[in-house]
Amino acid sequence: MKDAQAQTIYLRDYTPFGWTVESVHLTFVLAPEATRVRSRLRFVPDPKAPAQEFFLQGEDLTPISFAIDGTPVTPEITPEGLRAKVPDGPFTFEAEVEIAPLHNTALEGLYMSRGMYCTQCEAEGFRKITFYPDRPDVMSVFTVRIEGGEPVKLSNGNPVGAGEGWAEWHDPWPKPAYLFALVAGDLVAQSDSFTTRSGREVALNLWVREGDLHKCAFGMEALKSSMDWDERVYGREYDLDVFNIVAVDDFNMGAMENKGLNIFNSSAVLASPETATDANFERIEGIIAHEYFHNWTGNRITCRDWFQLCLKEGLTVFRDAQFTSDMRSAEVKRIVDVIDLRARQFAEDQGPLAHPVRPESFQEINNFYTATVYEKGAEVIGMLKLLVGDDAYSRALDLYFARHDGQACTIEDWLRVFEEVTARDLSQFKLWYAQAGTPRLAVAEDWQDGTYTLTLRQTTPPTPGQPDKAPLVIPVALGLLSPDGHEVLPTTVLELTEAEQSFVFPGLAARPVPSLLRGFSAPVVLERESSREERVFLLAHDTDTFTRWEANRDLARACLLAMVTDGADPDAAWLDGLETVLRDASLDPAYRALMLGVPTQSDLAQALHDRGVTPDPEAIWAATERLRDARATRWAELLPQLADEARVEAPYRPDAAQSGRRSLGSAVLALTTRLDGGSAAEAQYDRADNMTLQLSALACLVQAGRGAEALARFRAQWQGDRLVMDKWFGLQIAASDPAETVAVTEALTRDPDFDWTNPNRFRAVFGALAGHHAGFHRADGAGYDLLADWLIRLDDKNPQTTARMCAAYQSWRRYDPDRQAKMRAALDRIAAKPGLSRDVTEMVTRLIA
Ligand code: PHE
Ligand code: ZN
Repeated sequence: MKDAQAQTIYLRDYTPFGWTVESVHLTFVLAPEATRVRSRLRFVPDPKAPAQEFFLQGEDLTPISFAIDGTPVTPEITPEGLRAKVPDGPFTFEAEVEIAPLHNTALEGLYMSRGMYCTQCEAEGFRKITFYPDRPDVMSVFTVRIEGGEPVKLSNGNPVGAGEGWAEWHDPWPKPAYLFALVAGDLVAQSDSFTTRSGREVALNLWVREGDLHKCAFGMEALKSSMDWDERVYGREYDLDVFNIVAVDDFNMGAMENKGLNIFNSSAVLASPETATDANFERIEGIIAHEYFHNWTGNRITCRDWFQLCLKEGLTVFRDAQFTSDMRSAEVKRIVDVIDLRARQFAEDQGPLAHPVRPESFQEINNFYTATVYEKGAEVIGMLKLLVGDDAYSRALDLYFARHDGQACTIEDWLRVFEEVTARDLSQFKLWYAQAGTPRLAVAEDWQDGTYTLTLRQTTPPTPGQPDKAPLVIPVALGLLSPDGHEVLPTTVLELTEAEQSFVFPGLAARPVPSLLRGFSAPVVLERESSREERVFLLAHDTDTFTRWEANRDLARACLLAMVTDGADPDAAWLDGLETVLRDASLDPAYRALMLGVPTQSDLAQALHDRGVTPDPEAIWAATERLRDARATRWAELLPQLADEARVEAPYRPDAAQSGRRSLGSAVLALTTRLDGGSAAEAQYDRADNMTLQLSALACLVQAGRGAEALARFRAQWQGDRLVMDKWFGLQIAASDPAETVAVTEALTRDPDFDWTNPNRFRAVFGALAGHHAGFHRADGAGYDLLADWLIRLDDKNPQTTARMCAAYQSWRRYDPDRQAKMRAALDRIAAKPGLSRDVTEMVTRLIA
């Protein structure tokens, strides 16, 4: 394992590589412990770049031989790469190296997952395969030959030849090395085809292990829908003769958009009704779309350097969210995305890991595949679209594709097409990319003689390295309702550009109630101490489904905070208002299920912290339980009626309508279990013919302390299915009583099926521990210590996954001194581990800074 080098890379230091790479020829002779990689690279000096010494990145490679224009050479080799003296003009560089995919446990570069060869090169994994200018602005045309006994051998582009023990691939589209991919193994395909609107026949294959073939149908449909959608909505067609997707069991992330050869974590593509939940299906549909959409936003137009990561990720997340909105319910998708944004991105933005959507420096780029870059990056695009309008947005995108196809671009390039199309100056808007932190929006109102004045004031708290913030351009979507519940001002977008600004609405008959930040028009925290009456009014009358849901969330939060801090009783006025909504059968069951959600305990902890109260995880847990019990008792009559409405009689389909009903059904079952001790859940468990119903019943049984038998049956049934077993591991922890969470986790780490080097299994267990607020934050620090022990252990094998999971400690400063000291001690212990990876070193340093 390499030692940590604290080398920081800065955006401002960008310089182009001194050569272009005209062509790349690679030959792989596969062997688990000694794969030979031969490369032939044609370099041509770039007249536009400053002259420099010739350096190629390369890590953990065993050098065999090198030649320049056919003459053997001996370059200087360092731990980071090689340096050579090269001719002034064009030249051919050849290298042969050896690597050991079997021993590659970091899952970057070429590695093996249960006997199958696969690669992961984003961001800087290609340098673990061979020496190369491993940077996204070097784009080249790749030809790849694979030699090996594996029946299936795949790489990017189109197949150009194959014979006994070899296969050759050619990708005509210039690409950076991070989009390179190779797969070889004993695989079978679910195949299909798609004809693009200009008539190209594309062969589609989803490659899996034989036993997984029955889990491919949904992914294939999602792929075809994505291809169709991108043609219809963005005018983007696919550009090769084949599109291959491969499912692998060991993968650090969700999936990867390698050109023509997407590689997926099996959890992000494989699904059958019996083994995957509705949420799994929806996630799979979104990820397939996401990776497919990268073909244009990421691959055809890529990033100049890794600081521009949001150029492809923010845009592609935005596009996949549009796709999901079109395929399912736009209203539900928006709410779900905001819940997720607040849980992950706001938490990041409010702690020591806060960074701009376009960071200015990093030590390890893997640490910046974050909710800020991805999800806030997508929010920024949503705001841009709202500000310029749909029509200008689509003209700007057309210009972007036309102008930058085949290029490696920057955020400046992206914003320029919008400036040109709209003649708008986006320099202030650009601050969204540069300034970290979640802006706070304070609201003041005035009402006089028929004129309503709304004054908005924005501030962005300091974040690491950014003490002072400038005002941003914030689009605030507003509607006004009259006291009798009619909309007197339909949704209007106010543009807040100053630190403080007033907006005047004259000619109103009565003082209106504002419905602010409709559709969550900007990723900000609205600081508005509106009255309970007003929130209950909006819950009943708001015409915007987002702000209507938001009114309910505000009420839920206020209620829980009062329960925590003052021991108050559950707010009856709110529960009455909510009951009316729940009884409204004209409302989408999925929407009603979302209304039944309560703020997460971590969210409540942050809210208390914001109000100057030190959060007590046990008190938050107790209040949440008390609220749930109160709701169950209060709605004892209503629950069976809702359960009826939620019942699905038709054969299982993972579509929006059925999943919406099932999500209402499981929210109802959770409440019902508080009344009947688990009888309904037991019946549902026995009857369940799909994983959604089976799992929600199991969670209820575990919560009710009646899970032992069902857990054993579940295990016996699903022992052979890794993805289902991940659920079995995670659920026991997630549904545990906080006093037991650590013990349950600890026991599961001793289970023979706890294959901790598999990232999905590790995350199933420790993601569930870190996600159990009261369990993880147990007062004696046992949760912190257990996680630290395992992070220390995993770091030797897999720094990338270890580093991501360090974020579990990111809110450590908001707790009491005792918990702070215990979390700090856990972090110090991780930091002190000899040979700690660069990934984890950077994370821990930022966390304790
Ligand atoms: N680029 C991938 C995506 O957004 C994510 C990824 C990053 C996967 C790094 C692997 C490694 O879809
Ligand atoms: Zn992506």
